[in-house]
Amino acid sequence: MEIIHVSAECYPVAKAGGLGDVVGALPKYQVAMGHTAKVVMPMYRTKFLYQNDWVIDFKGRTNLGNWWFDFTVIKEKTNKLGFDLYLIDINGLLDREKVYGYNDDTERFTCFQIAVVNWLSHWQHKPDVIHCHDHHTGLIPFMVKYCYDYNKLADVPTVFTIHNAQYQGWMGWDKSYYIPRWDTWKAGLLEWKNNINPLASAVKNAWKVTTVSHSYLDELRYNSNGLEALFEYEKGKCVGILNGIDADVWSPATDTYLKDHFSVEDVEEGKAENKKLLCSQFGLDETKALLIFIGRLVGEKAADLLPDAILSSMYALNNGVNFLILGSGEPHVEWQLSQLNAHFPGNYHAVIGYNETLSHLMYAGADFLLMPSRVEPCGLNQMYAMQYGTVPVVRSTGGLRDTVVDMGDHEGWGIRFNNASVGDITYSVTRAAALYNNDKEHLNWMRQRMMKIDNSWENAVQQYINVYASLK
Ligand code: ADP
Ligand code: GLC
Repeated sequence: MEIIHVSAECYPVAKAGGLGDVVGALPKYQVAMGHTAKVVMPMYRTKFLYQNDWVIDFKGRTNLGNWWFDFTVIKEKTNKLGFDLYLIDINGLLDREKVYGYNDDTERFTCFQIAVVNWLSHWQHKPDVIHCHDHHTGLIPFMVKYCYDYNKLADVPTVFTIHNAQYQGWMGWDKSYYIPRWDTWKAGLLEWKNNINPLASAVKNAWKVTTVSHSYLDELRYNSNGLEALFEYEKGKCVGILNGIDADVWSPATDTYLKDHFSVEDVEEGKAENKKLLCSQFGLDETKALLIFIGRLVGEKAADLLPDAILSSMYALNNGVNFLILGSGEPHVEWQLSQLNAHFPGNYHAVIGYNETLSHLMYAGADFLLMPSRVEPCGLNQMYAMQYGTVPVVRSTGGLRDTVVDMGDHEGWGIRFNNASVGDITYSVTRAAALYNNDKEHLNWMRQRMMKIDNSWENAVQQYINVYASLK
């Protein structure tokens, strides 16, 4: 099968979160299973762009309303990532340093989608499936069906994967002229609650919709930022497929970001070496349990609760644990977390920013990973943590519920709580500290237990292939 993935992120080219990890791995494993998988994404100004060689694949000219623009599709020369990688260059619009966060993101990603569809319509043949990811690519299922210029693609199956339904790409009807000449009788298929809603449009128009865990699929029907009724109505075409993790990147035995490697047999010693390094880097007390948080400092991740939860845990345990935080996001949360640096020297440190290298060392060296997320479609952090023998302390929601079993349950290896609240987090931290201080043997058993869990991509890839095959 020939699958073309369309996405705003793809690791290691450009990553802002888990979407990048998934789009960097899924196609590679599809190729390994004998399929042809390609990725097309915007050409940002990234290190990866400058460090690799490219050939021009296509040059086109099209328009966003009245604005005509040229675009170039370039292809990475050596198949370095294990699949064909194409970047769309639109001068001045996409070639910027960050993936998101500009005032003209609507125009940037609409132009990107138009360029993708334009390029595909010039192919001599048709791909077997166009697989779009998240709202930045959500207009494509509509465009291939109802834009007159792209009629040629109308019978190409589209699959849409929701990695996060919180962000939907809303735009006003005043921007409807951005979409290339389309059948205006079909306006309802672009719309949700009086706006053009790319995520909703994708759910309506894609042949199949997938999301990244079973529990999140259920939750979408009662908690999806306004789209609940849509997911109830469309549930027949929606499927939950849990993400995998890329063993080439995330394996403590081979991780290229680590100095001290380890596996199930020597997890205790291996983690101790990494913890030592980590603690010395941030002046933390390596004899105490080390809890980490890695992620976007936003409401979805309940990052706003962290400052109070850390204070309350420190008081409850008389500073008997360490916290190390890595993340960026809401300025006031960044500020509060930084302020705590001065309060608990030797037991607490917050690194504000994005640091891939440090994140790997943290998964390897920490004892516990905290994820109190309010919403977590899948969550990769807890899966990475488990692979590195780090006990996940998670709120029971979405993919966290599907991947973590509480240590109080039969053969469980994690700590789960129900509410995104300071009280539940504090209580869970005290459970973690008690396990660390009083029952090292059980802790080591849990580490070995979780490291043996198979979260590889192979299983998920087969489920995606089954979805594509059902569209024939
Ligand atoms: P989301 O995609 O919602 O942010 P996921 O758990 O799916 O959450 O994936 C987050 C990914 O981003 C993981 O690979 C995690 O290690 C990484 N990550 C998040 N924040 C940072 C950061 N500040 N520095 C390094 N890596 C980060
Ligand atoms: C999103 C979700 C996260 C998921 C990731 C990859 O960013 O927030 O839970 O793991 O996408 O699918």
